[in-house]
Amino acid sequence: MPTPADILWRNARLATMAGDDLGVVERGAVAARGGTIAWVGADADAPDAATIVDCDGRWITPGLIDCHTHLVHAGSRAKEFEARLDGVSYEEIARAGGGILSTVTATRAASEDDLVATALPRLDQLIGEGVTTVEIKSGYGLTLEDELKMLRAARRLGEARGVRVRTTLLAAHAIPPEYRGDAEGYIDLVCNTIIPAAVGLADAVDAFCEGIGFTAEQTDRVLAAAVAHGLPVKLHAEQLSNLSGAALAARHGALSADHLEHLDGPGIAAMAASGTVATLLPGAFYFTREERRPPVQALRDAGVPIAIATDCNPGTSPMASILLAASMGATFFRLTVTECLRGITINAARALGLSGSVGTIEPGKAADLAIWDVTDPAELVYRIAANPLHARVFAGQ
Ligand code: NIG
Ligand code: FE
Repeated sequence: MPTPADILWRNARLATMAGDDLGVVERGAVAARGGTIAWVGADADAPDAATIVDCDGRWITPGLIDCHTHLVHAGSRAKEFEARLDGVSYEEIARAGGGILSTVTATRAASEDDLVATALPRLDQLIGEGVTTVEIKSGYGLTLEDELKMLRAARRLGEARGVRVRTTLLAAHAIPPEYRGDAEGYIDLVCNTIIPAAVGLADAVDAFCEGIGFTAEQTDRVLAAAVAHGLPVKLHAEQLSNLSGAALAARHGALSADHLEHLDGPGIAAMAASGTVATLLPGAFYFTREERRPPVQALRDAGVPIAIATDCNPGTSPMASILLAASMGATFFRLTVTECLRGITINAARALGLSGSVGTIEPGKAADLAIWDVTDPAELVYRIAANPLHARVFAGQ
Protein backbone atom coordinates (compact mmCIF):
# COMPACT_ATOMS: atom_id res chain seq x y z
CA MET A 1 0.00 0.00 0.00
CA PRO A 2 1.23 3.50 -0.81
CA THR A 3 1.20 5.18 2.64
CA PRO A 4 1.37 3.40 5.99
CA ALA A 5 -1.95 2.71 7.68
CA ASP A 6 -3.05 4.56 10.83
CA ILE A 7 -3.63 1.35 12.68
CA LEU A 8 -3.11 -2.37 12.20
CA TRP A 9 -4.79 -5.18 14.15
CA ARG A 10 -2.55 -8.19 13.77
CA ASN A 11 -2.21 -11.74 15.03
CA ALA A 12 -5.97 -12.23 14.73
CA ARG A 13 -8.42 -14.72 13.30
CA LEU A 14 -10.89 -13.03 11.02
CA ALA A 15 -14.52 -13.85 10.25
CA THR A 16 -14.80 -11.23 7.50
CA MET A 17 -18.29 -12.27 6.23
CA ALA A 18 -17.00 -11.60 2.70
CA GLY A 19 -18.38 -14.12 0.19
CA ASP A 20 -21.12 -16.58 1.13
CA ASP A 21 -19.94 -17.85 4.49
CA LEU A 22 -17.94 -16.61 7.47
CA GLY A 23 -15.05 -15.60 5.21
CA VAL A 24 -12.45 -16.94 7.64
CA VAL A 25 -8.84 -15.81 7.53
CA GLU A 26 -6.72 -17.74 10.05
CA ARG A 27 -3.63 -15.77 11.15
CA GLY A 28 -5.03 -12.59 9.65
CA ALA A 29 -4.65 -8.84 10.01
CA VAL A 30 -6.69 -5.71 9.25
CA ALA A 31 -5.36 -2.22 8.57
CA ALA A 32 -7.35 1.02 8.63
CA ARG A 33 -6.72 4.53 7.44
CA GLY A 34 -8.97 7.51 8.09
CA GLY A 35 -11.67 5.32 9.64
CA THR A 36 -11.86 3.03 6.61
CA ILE A 37 -10.51 -0.48 6.15
CA ALA A 38 -7.44 -0.12 3.95
CA TRP A 39 -6.17 -3.69 3.83
CA VAL A 40 -7.21 -7.21 4.95
CA GLY A 41 -5.12 -10.34 4.59
CA ALA A 42 -2.58 -12.74 6.01
CA ASP A 43 -0.67 -11.59 9.06
CA ALA A 44 2.61 -12.37 7.33
CA ASP A 45 1.83 -9.82 4.58
CA ALA A 46 0.54 -7.07 6.87
CA PRO A 47 1.51 -3.50 5.96
CA ASP A 48 3.24 -1.07 8.31
CA ALA A 49 1.11 1.17 10.51
CA ALA A 50 1.54 4.02 12.98
CA THR A 51 -0.21 1.98 15.69
CA ILE A 52 -0.03 -1.79 15.89
CA VAL A 53 -2.46 -3.80 18.06
CA ASP A 54 -1.54 -7.43 18.79
CA CYS A 55 -4.84 -9.35 19.08
CA ASP A 56 -3.22 -12.43 20.67
CA GLY A 57 -5.05 -14.76 18.30
CA ARG A 58 -8.52 -13.37 19.15
CA TRP A 59 -11.36 -13.52 16.63
CA ILE A 60 -12.45 -10.35 14.83
CA THR A 61 -15.87 -9.95 13.19
CA PRO A 62 -17.39 -6.91 11.54
CA GLY A 63 -19.00 -4.58 14.09
CA LEU A 64 -22.47 -6.02 14.77
CA ILE A 65 -25.60 -4.45 13.27
CA ASP A 66 -29.05 -4.36 14.90
CA CYS A 67 -31.29 -3.58 11.92
CA HIS A 68 -34.71 -3.39 13.66
CA THR A 69 -35.26 -1.62 16.98
CA HIS A 70 -37.77 0.61 18.73
CA LEU A 71 -35.01 1.77 21.09
CA VAL A 72 -36.56 5.22 21.59
CA HIS A 73 -39.70 5.00 23.72
CA ALA A 74 -40.93 6.03 27.14
CA GLY A 75 -42.64 4.07 29.89
CA SER A 76 -42.85 0.40 30.68
CA ARG A 77 -45.31 -2.34 29.83
CA ALA A 78 -44.50 -4.59 32.78
CA LYS A 79 -48.15 -4.56 33.95
CA GLU A 80 -49.28 -5.65 30.49
CA PHE A 81 -46.72 -8.45 30.66
CA GLU A 82 -48.30 -9.60 33.90
CA ALA A 83 -51.75 -9.53 32.29
CA ARG A 84 -50.42 -11.64 29.43
CA LEU A 85 -49.06 -14.13 31.95
CA ASP A 86 -52.63 -14.34 33.26
CA GLY A 87 -53.78 -15.35 29.78
CA VAL A 88 -54.78 -12.07 28.07
CA SER A 89 -53.39 -11.97 24.53
CA TYR A 90 -51.25 -9.22 22.94
CA GLU A 91 -54.03 -8.58 20.43
CA GLU A 92 -56.72 -8.34 23.13
CA ILE A 93 -54.64 -5.78 25.01
CA ALA A 94 -54.14 -3.76 21.81
CA ARG A 95 -57.85 -3.85 20.93
CA ALA A 96 -58.68 -2.62 24.44
CA GLY A 97 -56.55 0.49 23.84
CA GLY A 98 -53.43 -0.72 25.66
CA GLY A 99 -50.33 -2.14 24.02
CA ILE A 100 -48.69 0.22 21.56
CA LEU A 101 -51.10 3.02 22.56
CA SER A 102 -49.99 2.93 26.19
CA THR A 103 -46.42 3.54 25.03
CA VAL A 104 -47.75 6.31 22.77
CA THR A 105 -49.24 8.09 25.81
CA ALA A 106 -45.93 7.86 27.67
CA THR A 107 -43.85 8.89 24.64
CA ARG A 108 -46.04 11.91 23.86
CA ALA A 109 -45.60 13.07 27.45
CA ALA A 110 -41.81 12.71 27.27
CA SER A 111 -39.49 15.48 26.08
CA GLU A 112 -36.87 14.86 23.42
CA ASP A 113 -34.25 15.00 26.19
CA ASP A 114 -36.19 12.38 28.20
CA LEU A 115 -36.33 10.10 25.17
CA VAL A 116 -32.58 10.36 24.62
CA ALA A 117 -31.86 9.76 28.31
CA THR A 118 -34.09 6.69 28.61
CA ALA A 119 -32.81 5.15 25.36
CA LEU A 120 -29.12 5.58 26.21
CA PRO A 121 -28.86 2.58 28.60
CA ARG A 122 -30.45 0.36 25.94
CA LEU A 123 -28.07 1.72 23.32
CA ASP A 124 -25.13 1.22 25.67
CA GLN A 125 -26.11 -2.40 26.19
CA LEU A 126 -26.02 -2.95 22.42
CA ILE A 127 -22.72 -1.09 22.10
CA GLY A 128 -21.32 -3.24 24.91
CA GLU A 129 -21.93 -6.27 22.71
CA GLY A 130 -20.03 -4.84 19.76
CA VAL A 131 -22.89 -3.16 17.89
CA THR A 132 -21.62 -0.37 15.63
CA THR A 133 -24.76 0.26 13.54
CA VAL A 134 -28.31 0.39 14.87
CA GLU A 135 -31.64 1.16 13.25
CA ILE A 136 -34.12 3.10 15.40
CA LYS A 137 -37.80 3.55 14.54
CA SER A 138 -40.33 6.18 15.51
CA GLY A 139 -43.92 4.96 15.88
CA TYR A 140 -44.90 5.88 19.43
CA GLY A 141 -45.66 9.53 18.69
CA LEU A 142 -48.33 9.27 15.98
CA THR A 143 -48.59 13.05 15.55
CA LEU A 144 -46.37 15.09 13.26
CA GLU A 145 -44.54 16.71 16.17
CA ASP A 146 -44.16 13.57 18.27
CA GLU A 147 -42.92 11.44 15.37
CA LEU A 148 -40.31 14.08 14.48
CA LYS A 149 -39.37 14.32 18.17
CA MET A 150 -38.66 10.59 18.20
CA LEU A 151 -36.58 10.78 15.02
CA ARG A 152 -34.57 13.70 16.39
CA ALA A 153 -33.97 11.77 19.62
CA ALA A 154 -32.75 8.81 17.56
CA ARG A 155 -30.37 11.02 15.59
CA ARG A 156 -29.06 12.55 18.82
CA LEU A 157 -28.24 9.07 20.15
CA GLY A 158 -25.87 8.69 17.22
CA GLU A 159 -24.16 11.94 18.21
CA ALA A 160 -23.97 10.97 21.88
CA ARG A 161 -22.16 7.69 21.19
CA GLY A 162 -19.75 6.31 18.59
CA VAL A 163 -22.39 4.38 16.69
CA ARG A 164 -24.02 4.67 13.27
CA VAL A 165 -27.76 5.31 13.66
CA ARG A 166 -30.25 4.77 10.83
CA THR A 167 -33.68 6.24 11.51
CA THR A 168 -36.97 4.81 10.27
CA LEU A 169 -40.30 6.63 10.29
CA LEU A 170 -42.98 4.25 11.61
CA ALA A 171 -45.88 6.71 11.83
CA ALA A 172 -48.19 3.96 10.52
CA HIS A 173 -47.66 1.84 13.64
CA ALA A 174 -51.14 2.17 15.21
CA ILE A 175 -54.23 4.31 14.80
CA PRO A 176 -53.88 7.13 17.33
CA PRO A 177 -56.79 7.66 19.76
CA GLU A 178 -57.84 10.93 18.12
CA TYR A 179 -58.33 9.08 14.79
CA ARG A 180 -60.21 6.11 16.27
CA GLY A 181 -62.67 4.94 13.61
CA ASP A 182 -60.92 7.06 10.96
CA ALA A 183 -57.88 5.05 9.89
CA GLU A 184 -58.09 6.56 6.40
CA GLY A 185 -57.92 10.06 7.86
CA TYR A 186 -54.79 9.10 9.79
CA ILE A 187 -53.22 7.54 6.70
CA ASP A 188 -53.91 10.84 4.88
CA LEU A 189 -51.99 12.65 7.61
CA VAL A 190 -49.11 10.15 7.37
CA CYS A 191 -48.89 10.35 3.57
CA ASN A 192 -49.54 14.04 3.04
CA THR A 193 -47.95 15.61 6.10
CA ILE A 194 -45.73 13.34 8.20
CA ILE A 195 -43.76 11.60 5.43
CA PRO A 196 -42.97 14.85 3.57
CA ALA A 197 -41.87 16.47 6.85
CA ALA A 198 -39.64 13.51 7.75
CA VAL A 199 -37.55 13.75 4.59
CA GLY A 200 -34.01 14.48 5.78
CA LEU A 201 -34.71 13.13 9.27
CA ALA A 202 -35.73 9.57 8.37
CA ASP A 203 -33.60 7.16 6.35
CA ALA A 204 -36.54 4.84 5.60
CA VAL A 205 -40.27 4.37 6.17
CA ASP A 206 -41.93 1.37 7.85
CA ALA A 207 -45.54 0.40 8.68
CA PHE A 208 -47.42 -2.24 10.68
CA CYS A 209 -49.52 -4.25 8.23
CA GLU A 210 -51.72 -6.31 10.53
CA GLY A 211 -55.26 -6.85 11.80
CA ILE A 212 -54.43 -4.62 14.79
CA GLY A 213 -52.40 -2.28 12.56
CA PHE A 214 -53.16 -1.19 9.00
CA THR A 215 -54.75 -3.00 6.06
CA ALA A 216 -52.80 -3.91 2.96
CA GLU A 217 -54.47 -1.03 1.06
CA GLN A 218 -53.56 1.50 3.75
CA THR A 219 -50.03 0.13 3.94
CA ASP A 220 -49.75 0.37 0.16
CA ARG A 221 -50.57 4.08 0.31
CA VAL A 222 -47.92 4.68 2.97
CA LEU A 223 -45.20 2.80 1.11
CA ALA A 224 -46.09 4.52 -2.17
CA ALA A 225 -45.89 7.94 -0.50
CA ALA A 226 -42.49 7.05 0.95
CA VAL A 227 -41.12 5.92 -2.39
CA ALA A 228 -42.52 9.07 -4.03
CA HIS A 229 -40.47 11.09 -1.52
CA GLY A 230 -37.34 9.11 -2.29
CA LEU A 231 -37.38 7.10 0.95
CA PRO A 232 -36.74 3.34 0.92
CA VAL A 233 -39.29 1.19 2.72
CA LYS A 234 -39.47 -1.71 5.18
CA LEU A 235 -42.50 -3.45 6.65
CA HIS A 236 -43.71 -5.22 9.81
CA ALA A 237 -45.35 -8.06 7.88
CA GLU A 238 -46.98 -11.40 8.62
CA GLN A 239 -46.28 -11.19 12.37
CA LEU A 240 -49.66 -12.31 13.74
CA SER A 241 -51.53 -13.17 10.53
CA ASN A 242 -51.03 -13.24 6.77
CA LEU A 243 -52.15 -10.07 4.96
CA SER A 244 -49.63 -10.61 2.11
CA GLY A 245 -47.67 -7.67 3.45
CA ALA A 246 -44.29 -9.06 2.42
CA ALA A 247 -45.35 -9.31 -1.23
CA LEU A 248 -46.74 -5.78 -1.01
CA ALA A 249 -43.48 -4.50 0.46
CA ALA A 250 -41.52 -6.33 -2.24
CA ARG A 251 -43.60 -4.57 -4.91
CA HIS A 252 -42.27 -1.30 -3.49
CA GLY A 253 -38.69 -2.64 -3.60
CA ALA A 254 -38.54 -2.90 0.20
CA LEU A 255 -35.15 -3.22 1.86
CA SER A 256 -36.66 -5.73 4.27
CA ALA A 257 -39.84 -7.38 5.47
CA ASP A 258 -39.71 -8.15 9.17
CA HIS A 259 -41.17 -10.78 11.56
CA LEU A 260 -42.67 -13.11 8.86
CA GLU A 261 -43.93 -15.98 11.02
CA HIS A 262 -47.03 -16.19 8.78
CA LEU A 263 -45.23 -15.64 5.47
CA ASP A 264 -46.43 -17.79 2.54
CA GLY A 265 -44.90 -19.06 -0.72
CA PRO A 266 -45.98 -16.14 -2.94
CA GLY A 267 -44.57 -13.74 -0.35
CA ILE A 268 -41.22 -15.56 -0.39
CA ALA A 269 -41.12 -15.55 -4.21
CA ALA A 270 -41.87 -11.81 -4.28
CA MET A 271 -39.14 -11.11 -1.73
CA ALA A 272 -36.63 -13.20 -3.68
CA ALA A 273 -37.47 -11.34 -6.90
CA SER A 274 -37.04 -7.91 -5.34
CA GLY A 275 -33.97 -8.72 -3.22
CA THR A 276 -35.89 -7.91 -0.02
CA VAL A 277 -34.18 -9.14 3.16
CA ALA A 278 -36.14 -11.31 5.60
CA THR A 279 -35.48 -9.82 9.04
CA LEU A 280 -36.37 -12.38 11.70
CA LEU A 281 -37.13 -11.19 15.23
CA PRO A 282 -36.87 -14.14 17.60
CA GLY A 283 -37.14 -11.93 20.70
CA ALA A 284 -40.74 -11.06 19.74
CA PHE A 285 -41.43 -14.70 18.86
CA TYR A 286 -40.22 -15.68 22.33
CA PHE A 287 -41.91 -12.92 24.30
CA THR A 288 -45.33 -13.29 22.68
CA ARG A 289 -45.01 -17.09 22.88
CA GLU A 290 -45.72 -17.31 19.16
CA GLU A 291 -46.07 -20.91 18.05
CA ARG A 292 -45.56 -20.52 14.36
CA ARG A 293 -42.01 -20.20 13.03
CA PRO A 294 -40.98 -18.22 9.99
CA PRO A 295 -40.51 -20.48 6.92
CA VAL A 296 -36.74 -20.58 7.19
CA GLN A 297 -36.10 -23.49 4.84
CA ALA A 298 -38.27 -21.98 2.10
CA LEU A 299 -36.49 -18.63 2.51
CA ARG A 300 -33.14 -20.43 2.15
CA ASP A 301 -34.33 -22.37 -0.88
CA ALA A 302 -35.46 -19.14 -2.52
CA GLY A 303 -32.14 -17.42 -1.75
CA VAL A 304 -33.73 -14.67 0.37
CA PRO A 305 -31.05 -13.12 2.63
CA ILE A 306 -31.90 -13.54 6.32
CA ALA A 307 -31.13 -10.92 8.97
CA ILE A 308 -31.73 -11.16 12.73
CA ALA A 309 -32.50 -8.20 14.98
CA THR A 310 -33.55 -7.52 18.56
CA ASP A 311 -36.81 -5.64 17.78
CA CYS A 312 -36.01 -3.97 21.14
CA ASN A 313 -39.41 -2.54 22.17
CA PRO A 314 -41.46 -2.36 25.36
CA GLY A 315 -44.36 -4.53 24.19
CA THR A 316 -43.14 -7.60 22.34
CA SER A 317 -39.37 -7.73 22.76
CA PRO A 318 -37.98 -5.88 25.78
CA MET A 319 -34.48 -7.05 24.96
CA ALA A 320 -31.37 -5.09 24.04
CA SER A 321 -29.04 -8.02 23.32
CA ILE A 322 -28.08 -8.75 19.72
CA LEU A 323 -26.13 -11.84 20.82
CA LEU A 324 -29.23 -13.23 22.54
CA ALA A 325 -31.23 -12.53 19.37
CA ALA A 326 -28.65 -14.53 17.40
CA SER A 327 -28.75 -17.37 19.93
CA MET A 328 -32.56 -17.43 19.72
CA GLY A 329 -32.33 -17.43 15.93
CA ALA A 330 -30.38 -20.66 16.14
CA THR A 331 -32.42 -22.33 18.88
CA PHE A 332 -35.95 -21.27 17.89
CA PHE A 333 -35.59 -20.93 14.11
CA ARG A 334 -32.83 -23.53 13.54
CA LEU A 335 -30.63 -21.06 11.72
CA THR A 336 -27.03 -22.20 11.35
CA VAL A 337 -24.22 -20.40 13.17
CA THR A 338 -23.11 -18.93 9.85
CA GLU A 339 -26.65 -17.70 9.12
CA CYS A 340 -26.91 -16.17 12.59
CA LEU A 341 -23.60 -14.34 12.30
CA ARG A 342 -24.29 -13.15 8.75
CA GLY A 343 -27.75 -12.15 10.03
CA ILE A 344 -26.28 -9.65 12.48
CA THR A 345 -23.58 -8.37 10.08
CA ILE A 346 -23.78 -8.36 6.29
CA ASN A 347 -27.46 -9.26 5.91
CA ALA A 348 -28.41 -6.71 8.55
CA ALA A 349 -26.39 -4.17 6.55
CA ARG A 350 -28.41 -5.15 3.46
CA ALA A 351 -31.65 -4.68 5.40
CA LEU A 352 -30.55 -1.07 5.98
CA GLY A 353 -29.30 -0.44 2.45
CA LEU A 354 -25.75 -0.18 3.83
CA SER A 355 -24.10 -3.27 2.34
CA GLY A 356 -21.66 -1.09 0.41
CA SER A 357 -20.26 0.53 3.53
CA VAL A 358 -20.55 -1.83 6.54
CA GLY A 359 -21.25 -5.47 7.42
CA THR A 360 -18.05 -7.17 6.20
CA ILE A 361 -14.34 -6.73 6.80
CA GLU A 362 -13.28 -5.62 3.33
CA PRO A 363 -11.17 -2.74 2.00
CA GLY A 364 -13.21 0.40 1.43
CA LYS A 365 -15.76 -0.32 4.16
CA ALA A 366 -15.92 1.46 7.50
CA ALA A 367 -13.39 0.15 10.02
CA ASP A 368 -16.14 -1.12 12.36
CA LEU A 369 -14.89 -4.22 14.16
CA ALA A 370 -15.68 -6.40 17.15
CA ILE A 371 -12.79 -8.29 18.77
CA TRP A 372 -13.85 -11.32 20.78
CA ASP A 373 -12.50 -13.53 23.56
CA VAL A 374 -13.78 -16.71 21.93
CA THR A 375 -12.03 -19.76 20.54
CA ASP A 376 -14.56 -20.22 17.72
CA PRO A 377 -17.18 -17.91 16.14
CA ALA A 378 -19.87 -20.46 17.10
CA GLU A 379 -19.35 -19.42 20.73
CA LEU A 380 -20.99 -16.08 19.93
CA VAL A 381 -24.22 -17.93 19.17
CA TYR A 382 -23.86 -20.87 21.55
CA ARG A 383 -23.43 -19.11 24.89
CA ILE A 384 -26.61 -17.76 26.49
CA ALA A 385 -26.49 -14.32 28.11
CA ALA A 386 -22.70 -14.20 27.81
CA ASN A 387 -20.73 -11.29 26.44
CA PRO A 388 -17.24 -12.20 25.28
CA LEU A 389 -16.53 -8.79 23.69
CA HIS A 390 -12.87 -7.85 24.16
CA ALA A 391 -12.86 -4.57 22.22
CA ARG A 392 -15.01 -2.64 19.79
CA VAL A 393 -13.77 -0.44 16.99
CA PHE A 394 -16.03 2.19 15.43
CA ALA A 395 -14.73 3.95 12.30
CA GLY A 396 -11.17 2.98 13.18
CA GLN A 397 -11.40 4.21 16.81
O1 NIG B 1 -42.14 -5.12 16.28
N1 NIG B 1 -45.52 -5.22 15.70
C1 NIG B 1 -45.52 -4.05 15.94
N2 NIG B 1 -44.53 -3.37 16.52
C2 NIG B 1 -43.66 -3.88 17.51
C3 NIG B 1 -44.33 -3.98 18.81
C4 NIG B 1 -44.61 -2.68 19.35
C5 NIG B 1 -45.21 -2.68 20.72
O2 NIG B 1 -45.94 -3.61 21.12
O3 NIG B 1 -44.93 -1.67 21.39
C6 NIG B 1 -43.04 -5.18 17.10
O4 NIG B 1 -43.37 -6.27 17.57
FE1 FE C 1 -40.77 -4.01 15.45
